[in-house]
Amino acid sequence: MPATRTIQDYIRTIPDFPHEGIMFRDVTTLFADPRGFRMAIDQLLHPYAGLRIDKVVGLEARGFILGGAVAHQLGTGFVPVRKAGKLPGRTISQDYQLEYGNATVELHDDAIEAGETILLVDDLLATGGTAEAGIRLIERLGGKIAGCAFVVDLPDLGGRARLEAMGMDVHVLCA
Ligand code: PRP
Ligand code: ADE
Repeated sequence: MPATRTIQDYIRTIPDFPHEGIMFRDVTTLFADPRGFRMAIDQLLHPYAGLRIDKVVGLEARGFILGGAVAHQLGTGFVPVRKAGKLPGRTISQDYQLEYGNATVELHDDAIEAGETILLVDDLLATGGTAEAGIRLIERLGGKIAGCAFVVDLPDLGGRARLEAMGMDVHVLCA
């Protein structure tokens, strides 16, 4: 291992998880390392540190770990976008397609006020379906998205281009 480790050095790839043919980028090894985790949080929020951000929205599940730490560092609130049926209050829902299946995500309908500026955070951008669903939920409540920040981008799956075509500022730490 090099003396100065990059974000990529902390992430491992597990073949055939959760299905055959998927090369799963496992960020738990990044989260488990104090230097790696701090580097990831610092780099995720860096472009947004001088901007007005009202809330960080994290996508289930690893976006909660990253987004919570980013929100703490920026001094903002944190709002979860969760898989269907997990949020206790009144929600709005959005269906989407994954690299390996279909799903629905939800957001409490009072979690964001119209006009609030939002930073969206998740661990990984693949097809962009999950992030797009999160963006649609935020925008349905009138939130303005300042940026979408991810640790890993899988460029072959087109997520970045998909979000940029929606007018999003996309910030990724490694591919
Ligand atoms: C992973 C990842 C992103 C999403 C990216 O989550 O954490 O949220 O996939 O894929 P996409 O860009 O093709 O939408 P996953 O759906 O595996 O759910 P989990 O975090 O609950 O394990
Ligand atoms: N979500 C979708 N594709 C993924 C991958 N290859 N690794 C980790 N999470 C993912």
